[in-house]
Amino acid sequence: MKVTGPATQLLGEVQLPGDKSISHRALLHAALSPEESRLNNILRAGVTTAMIDCLRQLGVHIQETDGDLIVRGGKWIQPNKPLNCGNSATTMRLLMGALAGQPITAELTGTKGLQRRPMGRVARPLREMGASISSDNAPLVIKGGNLYGIIHHLEVASAQVKAALLLAALQAEGESTIYQPGPSRDHSERMLCELGVKLNHDNLMVTIKPSEKSLAATNISIPGDCSSAAFLIASAVLVPGSKITLRDVGINSTRTGILDVLTSMGADISVLHHGESGGEPIGDIIAKHSKLKSITVHGDTVIRMIDEFPVFTVIATQSEGKTTVKDAAELRIKESDRISSLLGELRKMGIVFTEHTDGYTILGPQVLSPAKLESHGDHRMAMSLAIAGMIAQGDTEIMHSDVVDESYPEYTQTLRKLGAKVV
Ligand code: S3P
Repeated sequence: MKVTGPATQLLGEVQLPGDKSISHRALLHAALSPEESRLNNILRAGVTTAMIDCLRQLGVHIQETDGDLIVRGGKWIQPNKPLNCGNSATTMRLLMGALAGQPITAELTGTKGLQRRPMGRVARPLREMGASISSDNAPLVIKGGNLYGIIHHLEVASAQVKAALLLAALQAEGESTIYQPGPSRDHSERMLCELGVKLNHDNLMVTIKPSEKSLAATNISIPGDCSSAAFLIASAVLVPGSKITLRDVGINSTRTGILDVLTSMGADISVLHHGESGGEPIGDIIAKHSKLKSITVHGDTVIRMIDEFPVFTVIATQSEGKTTVKDAAELRIKESDRISSLLGELRKMGIVFTEHTDGYTILGPQVLSPAKLESHGDHRMAMSLAIAGMIAQGDTEIMHSDVVDESYPEYTQTLRKLGAKVV
């Protein structure tokens, strides 16, 4: 991808692709139900293609009709080759949870990048529930069936681990309770409640009682992805004269930390809540160019914007004063090390940071110079560096940027439509 800056004015309306986390959960819940489910606005991107391919190998019927996915699942069959989760940790972790409840043996594998991601945080509690899992890293073999409920305290506030355990708990004997150290995204809890599952949850605890009956059909229209929205909000806020309207975005408060943080920094962002789908609030977001001041981001807010740090860091370079990020060591084990690798790329553009083990400090605003940058195989890194390129003077090239297809294949086209010079 090549971005020519500085962008002058970004204007327009955007309908975002379906939320990645909600899409994964809808696919899995539908795959466990013998009834026919209809999924509207499912994210069609690298990460969900991996999930769909794996589910088909497990005997789940998935077909496209009028742009929707029609899914019929139930009991899964033993796959005759390894299930390739690609680069998607959500695919792997959530599949581990669901497979733990099925009386079959499956091998899960993925890219070199995925093989570096920690799977022990899911494997350990699943083993306690009764599953056999060969390794704490991919590739791994999982043999499921005959699970018992569990009382588990999550090591980290990870929604992926929580969602995996809920998928296992649904298929276990007896009740399960999961405690988390912070408020991770609660899409699984909301969707399962909508499906009539006996589940109680608050910010930090979920209790689930499996039922004798099979899971009901999941019929849902997936809200637009608010993590993808964050890149466009950032571009509107940073590029003078801009105003971007984002339609039908998921505004679940476990995901909207970035909106709260940007608003505290002085960003002109308005959110109009206008509906619900599958238990998720949906709204329109209008973001305008704004003058920003610095902030300290730490604690629960980090969890509520865990995927937004790459783009937030670009915004921090343009904010007046000292911005500090703390309590964010989890960023080091995402698709790339989203502290070191990201700061490394922005240093190539002339930015000065102080790096800490769990975050960084930056004094802004600083001038971004155009540079040749690397995506590090990380979709959110590539998309964030494109925003950095838009506010630099000249041509910024992002190598291996086709990785954006993992979560937002229409990204460059959308930026162009809004007025950015991106090829
Ligand atoms: C996700 C949870 C987050 C997030 C990821 C998607 C999910 O990961 O970073 O992109 O769908 O549950 P963790 O739960 O590991 O923090």
